[in-house]
Amino acid sequence: MLFEGLDLVSALATLAACLVSVTLLLAVSQQLWQLRWAATRDKKTGHWLLQVFSKIFSHEALESYLPKIQLVIQDTLRAWSSHPEAINVYQEAQKLTFRMAIRVLLGFSIPEEDLGHLFEVYQQFVDNVFSLPVDLPFSGYRRGIQARQILQKGLEKAIREKLQCTQGKDYSDALDLLIESSKEHGKEMTMQELKDGTLELIFAAYATTASASTSLIMQLLKHPTVLEKLRDELRAHGILHSGGCPCEGTLRLDTLSGLRYLDCVIKEVMRLFTPISGGYRTVLQTFELDGFQIPKGWSVMYSIRDTHDTAPVFKDVNVFDPDRFSQARSEDKDGRFHYLPFGGGVRTCLGKHLAKLFLKVLAVELASTSRFELATRTFPRITLVPVLHPVDGLSVKFFGLDSNQNKILPETEAMLSATV
Ligand code: HEM
Repeated sequence: MLFEGLDLVSALATLAACLVSVTLLLAVSQQLWQLRWAATRDKKTGHWLLQVFSKIFSHEALESYLPKIQLVIQDTLRAWSSHPEAINVYQEAQKLTFRMAIRVLLGFSIPEEDLGHLFEVYQQFVDNVFSLPVDLPFSGYRRGIQARQILQKGLEKAIREKLQCTQGKDYSDALDLLIESSKEHGKEMTMQELKDGTLELIFAAYATTASASTSLIMQLLKHPTVLEKLRDELRAHGILHSGGCPCEGTLRLDTLSGLRYLDCVIKEVMRLFTPISGGYRTVLQTFELDGFQIPKGWSVMYSIRDTHDTAPVFKDVNVFDPDRFSQARSEDKDGRFHYLPFGGGVRTCLGKHLAKLFLKVLAVELASTSRFELATRTFPRITLVPVLHPVDGLSVKFFGLDSNQNKILPETEAMLSATV
């Protein structure tokens, strides 16, 4: 008995030690990841970067990206629909956001084949970002560094080609604005800074937006009535025409901001399925929280997910209910810090308007041009690491709009529950 008891104690001690090591490991790698941002940001650079980003994501800039984003999404949905098998939505969403970042944000005209290769290398880089800095052959760190070098080479080639070929461009992309702004501030960027900047932009946009896109598709599949209500709204605004594909490349920001229900759907996806769990901060001044003193200099983590789960303003927190954000209910309006999918304060997400725009266009295009159904018997489990996503990636068969082609037929409840 005593022996069994001791065995249990040592097993528990081992388990506790393992948990501590895993926690430490995660903390260290998160810290390393965080350092990537911090390293590029002293106070002066931070201020300048904020100014540049406010240009890159200004209303005017977003309006000019919009048609390109719509085209990239339309092309992608066409490819998904013509694929004979079900597709892995999370994987494909990653490719889509990568393509959006490369083609729209950075304005690179890389041939499709090279883009595919660059994406594979990029994935190798991302897969190894959370690794300890142990530079041994076959270590994650070494693989990550190698991938980063290949990527930087590819990016340098694309940047050089872009700098040489400025003719025939009808809009300024984020990279153009970054280069222009640096010149205006008497701070011509070196090639290394340009490569780092572009890589950081892709990195920030890629996994988060892919996660949110996948969650959006999963929720539209799970809640056909939400999708139908969305289609009603598009019809009411003349976006979803009965006689053909909606407005190729002609969506406007004003039109999108008039779609209130669409806004509620995106907000609810971001509340219940926030891609990033939280963020880190350094305590600048000792303060007290719930009777505990938090000393100056400590690193603290705020949790977006726990905030959304426990915020008293949200009724039935676990229910997917876009109408909670409707004008009539406005559950998020009470209090500033109950709803923060994009973080908060001075380090809030700089690309949030672009991310929301992307998700809205994706929802509009899905609702108007696609029918899609789950290819597995049940919906997959969700994992939270490194960003929230379904464990199997979400297997879905896309059909496009069937039938008398380009016509959305009225669907019965029975059809809705099977296919959306
Ligand atoms: C659904 C998509 C996205 C989500 C959920 C998201 C969320 C976040 C969060 C939670 C942070 C950290 C804030 C903090 O430390 O408290 C962040 C930072 C950041 N995001 Fe996003 N993001 C998304 C898309 C994007 C896009 C598309 C871009 C740009 C192309 C972008 C650029 C950035 C940048 C540059 C930062 C660093 C800000 C800083 O350190 O000051 N994000 N994002």
